[in-house]
Amino acid sequence: MSLILAIETSCDETAAAIYSAEHGLLSHFLYSQIELQKDFGGVIPEVASRSHMEKIAPIISTALEKANKKLSDIDVFAVTHKPGLAGSLLVGLCFTKALAYALAKPIIGINHLEGHIFSAFLEHPSIPFPHICLTASGGHTSLYLVKNFGDYVLLGTTRDDAAGEAFDKIGKLLELGYPGGPIIEKYAQSVDFEDFFSYPRSHMNSIDVSFSGLKTAVLYDLVKRDAYSLADKKLLDTSDLLKKQVSSSLLVCVADVFKQKLEKAYKLHPEIQAITFVGGVACNKYIKKQLQEFCQKRKLAYFSPSPEFCTDNAAMIAFVAGYKVQQNSYSDLTLDIF
Ligand code: KG4
Ligand code: ZN
Repeated sequence: MSLILAIETSCDETAAAIYSAEHGLLSHFLYSQIELQKDFGGVIPEVASRSHMEKIAPIISTALEKANKKLSDIDVFAVTHKPGLAGSLLVGLCFTKALAYALAKPIIGINHLEGHIFSAFLEHPSIPFPHICLTASGGHTSLYLVKNFGDYVLLGTTRDDAAGEAFDKIGKLLELGYPGGPIIEKYAQSVDFEDFFSYPRSHMNSIDVSFSGLKTAVLYDLVKRDAYSLADKKLLDTSDLLKKQVSSSLLVCVADVFKQKLEKAYKLHPEIQAITFVGGVACNKYIKKQLQEFCQKRKLAYFSPSPEFCTDNAAMIAFVAGYKVQQNSYSDLTLDIF
C-alpha cells in the first residue's frame, strides 16, 4: 500500500499532506502568507519564494507528525509542478526532488488545477461522472467537463482576470484590505445581497468569462457617482454604506455570470450528473447557495469542498497523486515547472 507525501508551494501557501491509498487523507498542514503579503495588497513573488524556503521543512515535519509517520515510511513523493509563480514552484519542486532522490523513491508532478478540479472528492468520494467543475480562485476561473479521474476537458475560461483577482482588485479600490473576497462577502451579507447597482453581466456567446471588464465597470460606476477620483486614484466616498452596496452588487453579478456560464455548459453537455464548485471563491456562502439552487432546479447533484479544501492546500494534490499511483503514472527527476 502506498503512502504519499504531497507538497504544494505554487503561490502563497506552503502546504504538505500525507495520504494513504488505503485510508485516504491522514493529515494536512499549511502556512499561509496572507499576513506577510497583506501590506502589499497582493502576492509579491520574491517574498513568496523566500517564505516557502523558510517554511517548507517545518511544514513537512508537522504533516508527518500529525499523521504519526516518519519520512522513511513514505513510498511516493508528489509535488505541484505547474502552474504558479516560478520561484515558488521551484522551492517545492527542488525540495521534493531532493527527498525522492535521497530516499530512492518515485516522484509524481501534479498540475495545481487538477488538484482543485478533484478537491471535492476529498469529502465526497462518490461524485458521479461526467460532471462539470467550476474552478474559481485568485489565479484561475474555468469550467471543465470532468469525465473520470485525470480525464477532463476545458470548456471555458477567463480571458483576463480570475474571479478572485477581481474581488481582490475591487477590494483594493474600496480600501477593504487583502484578500478582498472574504471582506466583500461580509459587507454584502450586512445588506442582504441586494443588487443595488446592477453591474453589466458579461454576455459573451462562449463559455469564457471576463472579470477585468467587471472591475472596470465598477470603477467607472464609482466615478459616475463622484465616489472615486481617477485623477488622484483615490476613493472619495469612504462610507460603509457605499462599500456594502458595491460588495453586494458585485457578488450578485458574479453569481449571475457563473449561473449563465453553467447553463451554457449544461446545454452543451446534458449528459452531466453533477456540478462541483471549487477554488478559493467557493468559500463564498452566497455564491455556493446560488449554485446549489441552480442544481436543485435542474435535478443535478451539487458538491463543494469545505473552505480548508477550497483555498490552496496539499490534500487535493495528494488525492490526485493517489489515483496517479493507481494509474501507474509517475514522473522522474527531469520534472520541470513548465
Ligand atoms: O484558491 P486560492 O486560495 O488561491 C489561488 O489559487 O488563487 O484562492 C484565493 C482567492 C482570493 O482571490 C480570495 O479573494 C478568494 O479566493 N476568496 C473569496 C472568499 N474567500 C477567498 N472570494 C469570495 N468570497 C470568499 N469568501
Ligand atoms: Zn489554487
